[in-house]
Amino acid sequence: MTDPTLIKSFGKSVREFWHALLLIIPITFSYFLFMIKNRALPPEKKSELFWNMGAKNMDNYGENEGLKKLERIRTEKLKKYLTGKSNVLDYGCGTGTIAVQFSNLVTRMQGIDYAAGMIEAAQRKAAVNRIENASFIKTTIFDERLDKGSYDVVIAWGILHLVDDRKHVIDRIYELLKPGGLLLSATECLGEKKTSITSFLALLMKIGIFPIMLKYFSITELESTITGAHFQIIEKVTMADNPVSCFIAAKKLQQ
Ligand SMILES: C[S@@+](CC[C@H](N)C(=O)[O-])C[C@H]1O[C@@H](n2cnc3c(N)ncnc32)[C@H](O)[C@@H]1O
Repeated sequence: MTDPTLIKSFGKSVREFWHALLLIIPITFSYFLFMIKNRALPPEKKSELFWNMGAKNMDNYGENEGLKKLERIRTEKLKKYLTGKSNVLDYGCGTGTIAVQFSNLVTRMQGIDYAAGMIEAAQRKAAVNRIENASFIKTTIFDERLDKGSYDVVIAWGILHLVDDRKHVIDRIYELLKPGGLLLSATECLGEKKTSITSFLALLMKIGIFPIMLKYFSITELESTITGAHFQIIEKVTMADNPVSCFIAAKKLQQ
């Protein structure tokens, strides 16, 4: 007799895959139009403008079933590590969802994102929710206005697989943290295992019709970049397996 839990888990995977496609198809379609309009721009500028364009729909994607599961884990992990005394940098803050949900747990939250549309949406959401200890700036992690050694926590939720040079970025996060400070990251580790989704995305990128240049690496490769930058990994959880998504909490060590 077939194990009913297997049927249930198969149904769940199909549903999650379908929900992921529902995300990918409209993104890809809007990108077609976008590509035609911006075909002469360099890839980095295209990604930035693409995120900018996606800002108005970003919160609707939160309705996606697979993402809801990730959101439950995010709530659990951020509640565990954010404390009242933290000065927090939310790197790649998007529409400010993390600030709206968790700024009440910390002293201060600084959101940064390179897409102007994301920053405007975050500022609007913070104002509507009367959040006074969060602010947002359109910039990158290398902005000199961010003070070295000033943050207790850097949150990098859904961004390390999007950046060109993750080693350079993680070194910079190290520099921005106070001694003993924490990096809280959630990363799509697309090189961990080949799935229908990772192959589909790779194909779209290869033929030049996917908006973002996703980076493919495994969990081990990500861990080694983090530990190589003088962090100690204190927690690692695989949050999803198609594509593989990994939460890592890491503590800044003295060099
Ligand atoms: C997948 S979204 C995650 C948003 C948010 N952290 C969350 O979990 O709701 C990635 C965000 O990173 C931003 N982003 C991508 N590359 C970036 C870069 N190099 N510098 C700053 N922001 C970047 C995008 O504009 C987008 O808002």
